[in-house]
Amino acid sequence: MTPVAATDYHVSPGGRLSGNIRVPGDKSISHRALMLGAIAKGRTTISDFLEGEDTLATLHAFREMGVKIDHVAGQKVVIHGVGLHGLRAPATILDLGNSGTSVRLLAGLLAGQSFDTELTGDPSLQKRPMRRITEPLQLMHASIQCSKAGTLPISIRGGQRLQGIHYNMSVASAQLKSCLLLAGLYANGETCVREPSPTRDHTERMLGQFGYAVKTGNQSVCLAGGGRLQGTDVHVPADISSAAFFIVGASIAEDSELLLERVGLNPTRDAVIGILQSMGADIRISNRHDVSGEPAGDIRVRSASLHGVEIPPEQVPYAIDEFPAIMIAAAAATGETRLSGAEELRVKESDRIAAITDGLQALGIDAEAQPGGLRVTGGPVFGGTVNSFGDHRVAMAFAMAGLVAREPVVIRDCANVDTSFPGFVTLARDAGLGIETGGADDK
Ligand code: S3P
Repeated sequence: MTPVAATDYHVSPGGRLSGNIRVPGDKSISHRALMLGAIAKGRTTISDFLEGEDTLATLHAFREMGVKIDHVAGQKVVIHGVGLHGLRAPATILDLGNSGTSVRLLAGLLAGQSFDTELTGDPSLQKRPMRRITEPLQLMHASIQCSKAGTLPISIRGGQRLQGIHYNMSVASAQLKSCLLLAGLYANGETCVREPSPTRDHTERMLGQFGYAVKTGNQSVCLAGGGRLQGTDVHVPADISSAAFFIVGASIAEDSELLLERVGLNPTRDAVIGILQSMGADIRISNRHDVSGEPAGDIRVRSASLHGVEIPPEQVPYAIDEFPAIMIAAAAATGETRLSGAEELRVKESDRIAAITDGLQALGIDAEAQPGGLRVTGGPVFGGTVNSFGDHRVAMAFAMAGLVAREPVVIRDCANVDTSFPGFVTLARDAGLGIETGGADDK
């Protein structure tokens, strides 16, 4: 067999998932809590903060800009907010690593500052499209440039008087919407963003939690600049995008029964549940409750026989990060699954349409990439070696494929799992997955 490197996963075939687990805090909500806490007046506490590399990149950026942030043990963070105009010029270029959410949301927030900033990231983030944010920010009179290729680095010149904007987004992106809303906090007059289809609405909800008035309706969000954010306590639900790997794993592995506790169930994020149920999955929700303005609940999953489906394109924005996991369910299902209208998957942490197709084919599954999606015909998963292309979600999805494989599954280049799911290997192993890392165990 080919040697297994320190950042590779080696998954033994078979096994079942069982027990009660809690996956780490929601990444999108953790980023936003840090950002709004930093520019709020007074103290903000974040409980169940995601201690992943992406959210820590946001945290370090604000420390660089003079915000005192105490990172207490047990996923607790205390931010001593400096107010809308209290940030200081960072001494260095801000490196946001692998995190698209950090760079795109921060670009909006930094466009309204009095000082200059420069943003960069790792080789994956350096390939991702940035004109979608720089162009509308320029329309707001921001002085912001990206590279000629429309990518990082981004340079922002401070001291501009931003002007509110009414903007029709051509791409369904919560990062773009949030970028413009954060710039809108610093702009004259009203900023309104209209989306082609609804995207995750954590920014709007959280602005409300910080006491900032936001008008929502008819696929648009509006706010007036020049208000005030008041520090608050934010409780972060578990991340449904991280839960998705376990929901799929427990659905496809025989004799499984898993309870995922206190998972975020925001209706703009929960389509993975409906899509899997339409494939025959046995998923039940209980203990529905609200945490800091976000719906949450417990998810019980039992093994089920899955069948292929045509995924409705209008569901795509609500499950945009879950397709690597959903396509593993498709591989274990009988019949064909089709996904279309998902062009955005080409510009995530990897080209996910290519990465998923490539990985499924490596395991012996009939999969075909299409421009805006893919077609997968379920069948025996033989095992083999899969390249994750450094994409955390591709890596974790293929780890779950081991549960139905006939031979071991080796997944290459999994270090970036720490961007969103620190402790994945340990939690997966505790739940019953036969997973080892090539080198030392993960943190
Ligand atoms: C995110 C929005 C989505 C999602 C990403 C997180 C966010 O990206 O894929 O993982 O926190 O706003 P887009 O805004 O590009 O759709």
